[in-house]
Order: sequence, then structure tokens, then C-alpha cells
Amino acid sequence: MIILGIESSCDETGLALYDTSKGLLAHALHSQVALHAEYGGVVPELASRDHIRRTLPLLEHALQQAGITAGDIDAIAWTQGPGLAGALLVGAAIGCSLALALGKPVIPIHHLEAHLLSPLLSKNPPSFPFVALLVSGGHTQLMRVDGVGEYAILGETLDDAAGEAFDKSAKLLDLGYPGGPEISKLAESGNPATHKLPRPMLHSKDLNFSFSGLKTAVLTVVKNQGDNISAQSKADIARGFVDAMVDVLVAKSMAALKETGLRRLVVSGGVGANKQLRAALDAAAAKRRCRVFYPELEFCTDNGAMIAFAGAMRWQKYPDAAKRDYAFNVLPRWSLEEVCFR
Ligand code: KG4
Ligand code: ZN
Repeated sequence: MIILGIESSCDETGLALYDTSKGLLAHALHSQVALHAEYGGVVPELASRDHIRRTLPLLEHALQQAGITAGDIDAIAWTQGPGLAGALLVGAAIGCSLALALGKPVIPIHHLEAHLLSPLLSKNPPSFPFVALLVSGGHTQLMRVDGVGEYAILGETLDDAAGEAFDKSAKLLDLGYPGGPEISKLAESGNPATHKLPRPMLHSKDLNFSFSGLKTAVLTVVKNQGDNISAQSKADIARGFVDAMVDVLVAKSMAALKETGLRRLVVSGGVGANKQLRAALDAAAAKRRCRVFYPELEFCTDNGAMIAFAGAMRWQKYPDAAKRDYAFNVLPRWSLEEVCFR
């Protein structure tokens, strides 16, 4: 079975073809980072219009790369939510009309479920059950994952998501967008002893997070530096921020492993690409004789491959997931628990 995946929930247009017997056949991606950079964040209307321009050319590209035609596609998986309503509608409209024209079923996908399952696309996939740390621009959650569609939320952020805190703190430091990779790079030359920033909820005895206070701490330190903040000061603040963020994410992830008694931790979402986080998680897990799994770097941030793959997994396990109902709606706010089957 060949599944086409369409991702358009935010600022990346991703198209991919996944074959349930051969694996990933092709994937094509267009990032809108340059389009939104001058505004310092995603402009929803510009995002929607760009998805319209990019989707069909990327589909052509993916089909060529895979050496197949549209008629060979068996089902179309598309991101139904959560995300930006207008952006989601583009993928929904194109996916459903294409499926109607081809006479093939559609599989609406939860974007976070796709992130969650993306490490299974890697060469050494983890087996179930595992603890998942999902750290993206819009979400921060710890989950127990027993199988496809079997998710229990162990903890989540009470305010800002980890990626959001990275982006907002980077903005305070006048760095480019998206801020995660920029602040991470700058932190490498920062002094860890200069700013000891707060580790919110580190000792809260639950598995929840809160990052808005950390962002406010960055704001306070930046303000205290005055107008002519030096490059080294910025690096020191970046280091203070990354160290605090990493400490909290690592401590809560280890607590989740302890609480569930599981030995596998799977990290997904854009912040999962972070070098410092990966190094600290690997070290902490090794001490507890646990193992950490990550998606391939290119599948950490938004992409079509994870949507095609999630579609394939869902369809194989729950045949009813593929529908011939082409009247679509999108779900900009949508809890992962709503797609659980337990
Ligand atoms: O998963 P994703 O592509 O989109 C959402 O579904 O939100 O995650 C995007 C987020 C952004 O906040 C971005 O700054 C962050 O992931 N990010 C990183 C890194 N690469 C991307 N954060 C820290 N370090 C990175 N290397
Ligand atoms: Zn995402």
C-alpha cells in the first residue's frame, strides 16, 4: 500500500510517499522560514498562500522521485490539526479533492501523533511501550505510548511550549527566526556560570512543565544589560537559558521513566533537534541504563514523511481510519487524547 502524506499545519509544506512494504519512497519539503523571517514569526495568511503555491509542485516532485504516478497512491493522509486554521485548510482541500478524483480513501492525521511516531521511521526504531517527550513549537508533553493510538499523557506544559520559549527568548536577544537553532548555536560560546536562570517546576513532584517564567527571566537579564549588549553577554544569556531548559526537560523525562518503569525514551518535535538536549538526555539515560531514540534530524521538524507514516500505521491497525468521506473540516485545537483508542 502506498500512502501520500500532506503536511501544512504551520510554516512547512511537506509531501511524502510511504510504502508499507518498501518504506519511505520519497519526500519533498518547502520551508517558509525565509518568508516569515522579516516579521520575526509566522504570519498565518502568508503561510496559507504559500502552501497553496507549493503543494502540487512538491507532489509532482515526490512522485517523480518515487518513480510512480498519482494512480499508484492507495490512500491520502493529511494533517487535520492542531495548527493554523488557514494553513491546515490548504492540505485538507488538496488532499481530499485529490483523493476524490483518484477514488481513494483519506486518513486525517493528528500532527502530534505523527511527531510521536516519527522515530519509528528511523533505521533503529524503538519498540513499544516507551515514554515519549514531545517538544515542539506549540507543545511540550510527556506521554506513555503502548502502541499506535494508545497514548496516555503523563504531564504537559501549563503555559509556553519549549519551542515557544526558545523562539521568544531568541527574539529578546535579537536573534533570527526560528530562534531554537540560533540560541542553541550561540549558547556554545557562552559561559555557564554567568547566569543561573530559574528551573521552573523542577521540584514540583509531577511531570508538568512551565516555561513562561524562564522567558521572563531572560527578559529581566537582557534589560539589566542596557542598550549596548555585547556579543559575549548575549552568548552567556543564551547559555543560561539553554542550560535551564535542558535541566528541566531531562529531569522530568527521567522522572517519567522512573514512574512508568519503562527503559525507552523517545524524543520528537523540533526541539528534539537540539544538540545540548540530546547530549544531556543520552548521558542521564545511560546512567539509568535506559535508551533514548530520536527521529532522523530531518524528521524532527515538520515534514510530510511523518504524516504518510502515521497514516500507514493508523490504517494498518485501525482499518476504519481510512474514510471515503471527502467533506473535510480542520481542528486547529485538538488534544492528542482524542485520537486514543484506549
Ligand atoms: O515540531 P516543529 O517543527 O513545529 C511544531 O509543530 O511546532 O518545532 C518547531 C520548533 C520551533 O520553536 C524551533 O525554534 C524549535 O522547534 N527548534 C529548535 C531547534 N530546531 C528547531 N529548538 C532548539 N534547538 C534546535 N536545534
Ligand atoms: Zn510540528
